Amino acid sequence: VQAPRGGCSHSTRPPVVTPSLPAAVFLAGILAALPDRNVSPVAGAIFVHELKREHFQGAFPSIRKNYSEIPSDTPITFHAQLLGYPDLPRWLRYTQRGPYRTGYLYGSPTMKDVGRQLIEVTAYNRHTYETVRQRVIFTIVPAPDTQMPYQAEFFVKNRDVEEVLPTDAQKQFQQALDIMLEQKDWSIINITSALDRGGRVPLPIEGRKEGVYIKVGSRRPFSDCLLETKSFDNQFRCSLDQQPVITCYDSFSPQFRVDWCNITLVDLSSLSVTERMPVWGDGVLEDDSEYNPPTDSPEKAFLSDYLLTILLPLLVALLLCLLLAYIMYCRREGVHKRDLKTSE
Ligand SMILES: *[C@@H]1O[C@H](CO)[C@@H](O)[C@H](O)[C@H]1NC(C)=O
Ligand SMILES: *[C@@H]1O[C@H](CO)[C@@H](O)[C@H](O)[C@H]1NC(C)=O
Repeated sequence: VQAPRGGCSHSTRPPVVTPSLPAAVFLAGILAALPDRNVSPVAGAIFVHELKREHFQGAFPSIRKNYSEIPSDTPITFHAQLLGYPDLPRWLRYTQRGPYRTGYLYGSPTMKDVGRQLIEVTAYNRHTYETVRQRVIFTIVPAPDTQMPYQAEFFVKNRDVEEVLPTDAQKQFQQALDIMLEQKDWSIINITSALDRGGRVPLPIEGRKEGVYIKVGSRRPFSDCLLETKSFDNQFRCSLDQQPVITCYDSFSPQFRVDWCNITLVDLSSLSVTERMPVWGDGVLEDDSEYNPPTDSPEKAFLSDYLLTILLPLLVALLLCLLLAYIMYCRREGVHKRDLKTSE
């Protein structure tokens, strides 16, 4: 029995299904599940959950049976969704560079998301089309201290989003930031792929990356060094495609190539609490309320429309019909019976 193969098989290896027990494998495939995982993201900080291939690989029924020879090259892709819903919650995103790479669930929950969310992760073995499920229980907790009013967003040109999501890469970025700004209280709030901001997939040239936006926040004001990037001189340089001049040492390079022209500084400290709240327009429904369509729509007379769309074309058709009839019966040209008789 050949297992079904989809359009995206990545190798010509035969599938690892045992021919004798396809039904059993199928059944086991449906039931295969890993024990639940508990994670607790903090509101207002970046959260990353790695979907490790090795973790799911051993749980595929066909591989579990002959455990001694785990193929290291099983292509695995993932699908994640909020339990009972087709997609992920708004704050959470999923990414995987390819079936041989680690998948990531990442995002930055807000205070509105605080609570429990059940995410179901399904891993697909692209060789055998077996699946393994795992439930990840997200317990989103509020941030221990007050929010960070000083926020800066950096654009890192030489990294893809998957390359900054692992903890080590985040630490590296944070250390560079601490050294450069000589402050220790910056933390990463959000990470966004440039592709989510209208960026493009670069040409497949060595070293070209999509880029990633990293947003950091702090309770202490921006250092002069960061503010310098927004100075008039530097803005002018940037408009001429030149590097801005900053007095402190760029400790990010060479690992992270930060675009010093593309820095967003947000200072929320001067805003009062009410100003920070978004102001909803009148078109937004309250939670759990229903939309009541207006009942008193004005009466409208459709007679003239009717006459125009139905009767006018009919009238024209009738006229044409009469004209044609007149031409066919009264104005017929050709040989008459009488003429035929006389010619005989
Ligand atoms: C994080 O970034 C994403 C994508 O840009 C955005 O939709 C989301 O609102 C951000 N979250 C926070 C808490 O800033
Ligand atoms: C920042 O980068 C984005 C994407 O590359 C670009 O669209 C935007 O114009 C840049 N902003 C500045 C100020 O250079």
